[in-house]
Amino acid sequence: MTRLVMRTRSKPYPVTIGGETKFICGCGLSATQPFCDGTHKQTRDEKEGTICWYDADVGRNEVADAFPNIRIPSE
Ligand code: FES
Repeated sequence: MTRLVMRTRSKPYPVTIGGETKFICGCGLSATQPFCDGTHKQTRDEKEGTICWYDADVGRNEVADAFPNIRIPSE
């Protein structure tokens, strides 16, 4: 089974519990879920108005690459 989940956040959520701060992954790409492993840096230069997906090696692809007839509305 394969599941696509949309994430728009490109940075972690800082959470402080008992005086200790942990960083929870907000981008969905961390290999150490639920914690951030820094992989969100791969999302920083995503182009506005595009939808990206990442393969198992965190290689970026755009939805339009797989479905060339999809038009993505600008925000
Ligand atoms: S927020 Fe996902 S890896 Fe950092």
